[in-house]
Amino acid sequence: MEKCGTEPPKAGDASEVFGEPSASVASSGTKRPREEILRENYPSKSAYKKALKDRKKLETKLFRKEQRKKEQAIERERKKEERLKEKLSPEEIEERRKKSKERVANQRKVKQERIEKFRKALSTAPTVVIDLEFGELMTESERRSLAHQLMHCYAMNKKSEKPCNILLSGLDGIMCESTESLSGFENWEVRRERKGYIEAVSEKKDDLVYLTADAEDVIDTFDPSKLYIIGGLVDRNRHKGVCKKKAEDQGIATGRLPIQDHVK
Ligand SMILES: C[S@@+](CC[C@H](N)C(=O)[O-])C[C@H]1O[C@@H](n2cnc3c(N)ncnc32)[C@H](O)[C@@H]1O
Repeated sequence: MEKCGTEPPKAGDASEVFGEPSASVASSGTKRPREEILRENYPSKSAYKKALKDRKKLETKLFRKEQRKKEQAIERERKKEERLKEKLSPEEIEERRKKSKERVANQRKVKQERIEKFRKALSTAPTVVIDLEFGELMTESERRSLAHQLMHCYAMNKKSEKPCNILLSGLDGIMCESTESLSGFENWEVRRERKGYIEAVSEKKDDLVYLTADAEDVIDTFDPSKLYIIGGLVDRNRHKGVCKKKAEDQGIATGRLPIQDHVK
């Protein structure tokens, strides 16, 4: 399948997303450092940012350690099996083989059920657009960071009880290259469009709302009939106001999420 902008979600086998762990991914099955990192505990913004970075590094380290442990446990189990087989009768070996087959079939069934539940939830879910038309405004490492954030979004959305349909618009050129390195990207159940959202969903222009911290209007309630657009732009705020200006030039609404009000 083509990796960049094409068709609506395909009904193929959805692969799991594996990649660099985020804090939340690292947390699954891993003991996390407990204390929260709060801005007020640091004398400067840079010290605070460094603490966040160090925390992320630590979590990545813990995540990898956990992965290694899991691999070692699998290997131990395999060796144990081998040793056992040497002592087992042919009937016992057959019995074990049968059980193992059943286990695999059961795991497949559980996975398939999860995929079906996800697809069913998507059939009535709202759509969130991720605007990938800013590729040229970013450095290579910022594009890489964006690609990783996309991966986390996708993974989180897939696990969510109430997932959203994701439309990746403007997935072309340099952004297409950046997403190519993402493991399993071609199997993601998202809609990909080479065109920008303004063309891709032109019939819904009146329902488009560009989310930006620079908007005057605050969004307090989520309206599922709207298509909210998130700017795919990692810029350390170098390009201030670029999303708001784009939306205004295109004649579409903007809205700000009151994120700051909820950050300590
Ligand atoms: C890191 S920001 C890039 C900011 C960019 N300079 C701009 O013009 O908005 C990337 C995206 O995060 C989303 N975002 C960040 N803070 C937001 C807020 N308070 N409300 C709504 N969206 C926000 C917006 O969709 C924005 O396009």
